[in-house]
Amino acid sequence: MFSTAFLDLPALQGASGTVTLPGSKSISNRVLLLSALCQGTTVVHDLLDSDDTRVMLAALRQLGCDVLVDGTTVTITGLGGCAWPREAIEFFMGNAGTAMRPLTAALAVQGGDFTLKGVPRMHERPIGDLVDALRELGCTIDYLGNEGYPPLRVRQPTLQLDKPIPVRGDVSSQFLTALLMALPLAAQDRAITIEVVGELISKPYIEITLNLLARYGIAVERQGWERFVIPAGSRYQSPGTIHVEADASSASYFIALGAIAAGDPSKGSQGKGIRIQGVGADSIQGDIRFMDAAAQMGAQITSGPNWLEINRGAWPLKGITLDCNHIPDAAMTLAVMALYADGPTTLRNIASWRVKETDRIAAMANESRKLGAIVEEGPDWITIHPLPAGQWQRASIHTYDDHRVAMCFSLAAFNPDQIPVRIEDPKCVAKTFPDYFEALFSVAHTAAANIPVICIDGPTASGKGTLASRVAAQLGYHYLDSGALYRVTAHAALQAGLTLEAADEAKIADLARQLPVRFEGEQVLLNNVDVTDAIRSEQGGMNASKVSVLPAVREALVALQHSFRRLPGLLADGRDMGTVIFPNAALKVFLTASAAKRAERRHKQLISKGFSANIESLRADLEARDARDMSRSASPLQPAQDALQLDNSSLSIEDSVAQVLDWWQGKSR
Ligand code: C5P
Repeated sequence: MFSTAFLDLPALQGASGTVTLPGSKSISNRVLLLSALCQGTTVVHDLLDSDDTRVMLAALRQLGCDVLVDGTTVTITGLGGCAWPREAIEFFMGNAGTAMRPLTAALAVQGGDFTLKGVPRMHERPIGDLVDALRELGCTIDYLGNEGYPPLRVRQPTLQLDKPIPVRGDVSSQFLTALLMALPLAAQDRAITIEVVGELISKPYIEITLNLLARYGIAVERQGWERFVIPAGSRYQSPGTIHVEADASSASYFIALGAIAAGDPSKGSQGKGIRIQGVGADSIQGDIRFMDAAAQMGAQITSGPNWLEINRGAWPLKGITLDCNHIPDAAMTLAVMALYADGPTTLRNIASWRVKETDRIAAMANESRKLGAIVEEGPDWITIHPLPAGQWQRASIHTYDDHRVAMCFSLAAFNPDQIPVRIEDPKCVAKTFPDYFEALFSVAHTAAANIPVICIDGPTASGKGTLASRVAAQLGYHYLDSGALYRVTAHAALQAGLTLEAADEAKIADLARQLPVRFEGEQVLLNNVDVTDAIRSEQGGMNASKVSVLPAVREALVALQHSFRRLPGLLADGRDMGTVIFPNAALKVFLTASAAKRAERRHKQLISKGFSANIESLRADLEARDARDMSRSASPLQPAQDALQLDNSSLSIEDSVAQVLDWWQGKSR
C-alpha cells in the first residue's frame, strides 16, 4: 500500500495482463454481520481486508464474537443463542457506512447500552431516516451530536412489530439493508413487514442483501420493491462456509483500463487486454452492470465463471447518456472514461453521490476541471466533455478521503499528452482496495524514459543509502542500492573460489550477469541465503571496491541495475548512477561530507550493530576506498555534470531529505 502524502503517476501508455481483485466490500461486511448474528460457526473465504471490514471485525469482537483471521479467511462463531452483552460498549466506526448502518440497526433491535461514533465525515453522513424507522418500531436511539447524524447512543427497545415499518428508500438503500438484516432477530413469533417510502434507489444492493439473507436461512418475501415481509419463525443459521466474490465496483477500474489502454504489441497475444480474476458477468453484485455501460462506450468484454476479459474496442470511446441509479458507485468510473470519448457523457439519477464518502458530484467535477475538462453539474447529474489531445493540464488530484476518487483519476495517467498525474493521499484506496496502485502498476506499461529516476551518488559513508531510501519512501518509489550489487558480486566470487583480481575478471562478470540476488526490506539474499551481515562489513566494502574496478564486471551489472526502473519511479544510489547507468535521470544529487564526519558516522553505525571499530583506521579505510573509486578508469567516482551538490556534513537527515524533495518538486513542476 502507498502511504505517502502523494503519488506521482508517470504518463502511462498501455496495459495488459491479469489482475486478481480483492473481495467485495458490500458482500464482506454483510457476511461478517450475518455470521455474527447467526447460530453456529461460519468460515468466510476471500474476505476483503480493508478499513471498512476491519472496523466491522473490531466491532464484532467487542460484542464478544469469536473471530479468527487467517489471511483472507475468517472464522466467526455467531452470537445467536448466546448471551448478548449487557455492559456499555463504545464502537468506533471510522468512515465505514457499510458497517455503521447495519450494526446500528442490529444493536438497536437487540438492545443494550451502545455508543457508535466515527470520523468527522461520518458525523456528516445522514442516518436520520434509519433512526426514524427504528424508532417507529420501538427502538431507543439518541443523537449525541447533530440531529439526524452520528454519533448515536442505543438503549433497550420496546418493540412494536404489529404494524408495517416504514423506511425511506430514496436517500440510501443501506437503511433498508440495515432493517432487513436486523429484523429477523425479532421475527421469532411474528411476521414483520417493511414498507418502502419513496422510490427505492440502488436496488441491486438490496438484491445482494436478500441473496445473502437466503444463504443464512432467512427467506424474505419481496412484493415489488415496496414491501418486504420477514416470515414468522425466521432464524439465522450459518451456511457453514461462504465465498466472497471479488468486488465488482473495484473491477470497474480495470474494465475501464482495458477499454482505454492499448495493449503491448511487443508481447504478442500475451500483450492483449486485461483479464480480471474473481468476478464474472453472473455476479450477484449490481455494479457488475457497469460492464454494459463500458461496452456502450466502446469496451470489448468477454466473460466466464469468475473472470472477465476486456479489450479496447471503439477508440476514441463513445460519449453516452445514462441513468446510473443501478450502478451508483461504479458509475464514477464512467466520468473518467468520458474524458477519452468523442462527445459529451451525461450521467443522470446520481443524487446519492452527494451523500457518499464526499460529495462525489462536486469532487468529480472539480478534479476533472483541474485536468482541463469542461464539466457541468446539477443536483443529481453531471456532464463531462471529452478532453482532446493538447489540452490536458498537469494536476494534483485532491481525493477527499474517497477511495473511488483516487482510483478513478489514476486512469487520467493514460492521457494522450503524456502528462504525469499526482494523486494526493493515495492510501485512501485502503477503504476497499489497499493494493490498488500495485495492481495497476502490475499491468500498466510505459516507455522507460517516462519512469522517473533520482540518482544519489557520492563517496563512501556520505549517507547516500539513508538519504536515498528515505526519499524513496516519501515518494513511494523503488530503491536501488547499487553498492550492494558490487558487494554481493564480490561475496559470490569469493564463495566460488575466485580472486578479486583482473585475472578472474571474465569469471566474476559471468557470475554478476546472473546474480541470484533478492532484496527484502533491509535484507539481501543471495541464492535465498541471507548475506546481509557478511556484505555490510568493512571488508565487504573493500572487496566490492576491488571488483568494481573491473570493466567487464561493471558492464555485466548494467542490465540488472536498469531492471530496477519500474513504475512508479526509482531512487538509485551509488557512484555512477548519474554518470553511466541513468545518464538521463531527471534529478542527480552528488552527496558529500568531510572525511572526519563520514568516519564518525560509520563508527556510530558499526558500534550500534555490535561491531568493534576504531575511528582512525575507519577514516584511513574510507580514504583508501575513495581514492581507488576516484582513480579507476572505468566509471570513476565523480559528480555528473548536471548533478546538484549537497554537502551534508552539518545537516540532519531530515534536512537532507527535505532538500532533495524540494529539488524534486522544482523539477516536476
Ligand atoms: O555504496 P557501497 O559502500 O555499498 O559500495 C561499495 C563499493 O562498491 C564502493 O566502494 C564502490 O567501489 C563500488 N560501487 C561502484 N559503483 C556503484 C556502487 C558501488 O563502483 N554504483
